[in-house]
Amino acid sequence: MVTIENLNKFYEIDGQKQYVLNDIKLNIQKGECVILKGVSGSGKTTLLSIIAGLDKPSSGKVLVNGEPISKLPDMHLSAFRAEKIGIVFQNFNLLDGVSLLDNAIVPLVAAKVGLKEAKQKALNALKVANIEHKANKTPSELSGGEKQRGAIARALVANPNLILCDEPTANLDIANSLSFIQTLKELHHMGKTIIVATHDSLFEELDFKHRVVEISQGLLVDS
Ligand SMILES: Nc1ncnc2c1ncn2[C@@H]1O[C@H](COP(=O)(O)OP(=O)(O)O)[C@@H](O)[C@H]1O
Ligand SMILES: [Mg+2]
Repeated sequence: MVTIENLNKFYEIDGQKQYVLNDIKLNIQKGECVILKGVSGSGKTTLLSIIAGLDKPSSGKVLVNGEPISKLPDMHLSAFRAEKIGIVFQNFNLLDGVSLLDNAIVPLVAAKVGLKEAKQKALNALKVANIEHKANKTPSELSGGEKQRGAIARALVANPNLILCDEPTANLDIANSLSFIQTLKELHHMGKTIIVATHDSLFEELDFKHRVVEISQGLLVDS
């Protein structure tokens, strides 16, 4: 589902190459749940961004569903991402001043789905994320946990096979974090491929099948 081959990412600072990701090799099978664990600054967000095609590698290759996402032209990339990849960000990244329903519709615009069908799908996704009763509320009218559910709905709306979560519980209290983990479990049972970047210790005791991959200073740690 996700194949990462000899991936490097560096920034040139004062003519010096600073490696953020160093020769990453990783294979993630369809239906796997991978917990990408590492302290702040270890490279988690950079790796997820490259898998999502939001950032480009310096060298190496990333395949998603057999497609070399790191090499797709931007024009195809946004449609590909909208259909195949759902992303849940640390700070939710919802559009303010726009209802949760409209927020959930956004990926379908990139996927060129008609408005009526898009609305239906968005309502459905809000239902799966357990937040359809707040469909007409804007993010500023919602709690952190509710915004998180809105973000999950947006990630699910196009029925993607791959779901990427970046520190999804960083802004949640324990109850909402546990509820997020429950949602993750349901998505896992639905057969979704999931990657969660986190340093939250709650993910150390998941009661469903998963694989922990540790990253330290841009290197994958052998386990
Ligand atoms: N645009 C950039 N220019 C230079 N360094 C960057 C840039 N973006 C990220 N970094 C560096 O890359 C490293 C990894 O960052 P990140 O992937 O955000 O880590 P994590 O998500 O694990 O906290 C950090 O040391 C960070 O300072
Ligand atoms: Mg990060």
